[in-house]
Amino acid sequence: MPKEIVLSGIRPTGFLHFGNYFGAVKNWVRMQDEYDCYFCVVDWHGLTTHPDTKELRENVHRLLSELLASGLDPEKSVIYVQSSIPEIAELYLYLNMLAYKGELEKTPTFKDKVRQHPNNVNAGLLTYPVLMASDILVHRAVKVPVGKDQEQHVEIARDFAERFNRRYRDVFPLPYGFNYGEALTKILSLDGSGKMSKSANEMATIYLNDDDDLIRKKIMKAKTDSGPTEKGMPKPDYIENLFLLMQIVSKYEDVARFETDYENCSIRYGDMKKQLAEDMVTFIKPIREKAVSIKNDKTYLTKVIKMGEEKARANAAKTLKLVKEAMNLNYV
Ligand code: TRP
Repeated sequence: MPKEIVLSGIRPTGFLHFGNYFGAVKNWVRMQDEYDCYFCVVDWHGLTTHPDTKELRENVHRLLSELLASGLDPEKSVIYVQSSIPEIAELYLYLNMLAYKGELEKTPTFKDKVRQHPNNVNAGLLTYPVLMASDILVHRAVKVPVGKDQEQHVEIARDFAERFNRRYRDVFPLPYGFNYGEALTKILSLDGSGKMSKSANEMATIYLNDDDDLIRKKIMKAKTDSGPTEKGMPKPDYIENLFLLMQIVSKYEDVARFETDYENCSIRYGDMKKQLAEDMVTFIKPIREKAVSIKNDKTYLTKVIKMGEEKARANAAKTLKLVKEAMNLNYV
């Protein structure tokens, strides 16, 4: 039986951080053994909000290196750059005819972007979900691992697939959002202000590229308080987050010891952060070093990019052939 097709995309508008690693990339790495996976650096999507392309090449190379260092394997998955696949743009054109201005305008992510970039409300931003649907449908993917914030885009992609199938012919299987278990591990920002993210406070975000001392500095600055004063007091979310980080990178005994200290109201957050900082350094260091060495190996990186392009185009071309036949766009 052929394996189900998984597809996900990541914008090259920031670098990988610990939240991406645990919220997304680690799951992609696991999916590689069970599914036919496509992972795409979506540079066209990046252009909707970041039209300055001076650093794009450098950024795409770094992001790819970090993804590879995190365990994405070009022998198992198809890892490619969106703009090298013209079939995505062609499908985007066809799907645009099935997408209504009204529905695109009322997409919450569009409204957010309009608020954030009131002077750059370009048509690409409006049709962002159509481009994302093209990414997914061009490979006839059915499982789309995304976070909560992108689930609605996957629903829109499903609507377009249904609309196309009904209007022309059954070409697309219907895609769904997908992840292991119920909830993804959600890592919070170290300053206690919501999700760890690329755009927020850099000092509260641990990047896979941070050097040892920077990691230590960021962890030591993480938000804490004067500690619990009564047994059984619930942990505030920024403390819960430090424990979560520790559960990921530290030894079981160390986590257990600080849990007991918390329980007894004798916890010293300074000591906890020192331990966490050292364990985080040990965790990040090999990934960072691997990413740097991949990024410096231009021959290898070029090979990976070309191989991904070849495989992704071959598969996308098959879909476009079906699409054009279904639409009667075949004249010879
Ligand atoms: N819009 C997604 C984000 O901002 C990125 C993306 C583009 C994507 N195309 C995709 C994700 C296809 C999953 C599938 O995170």
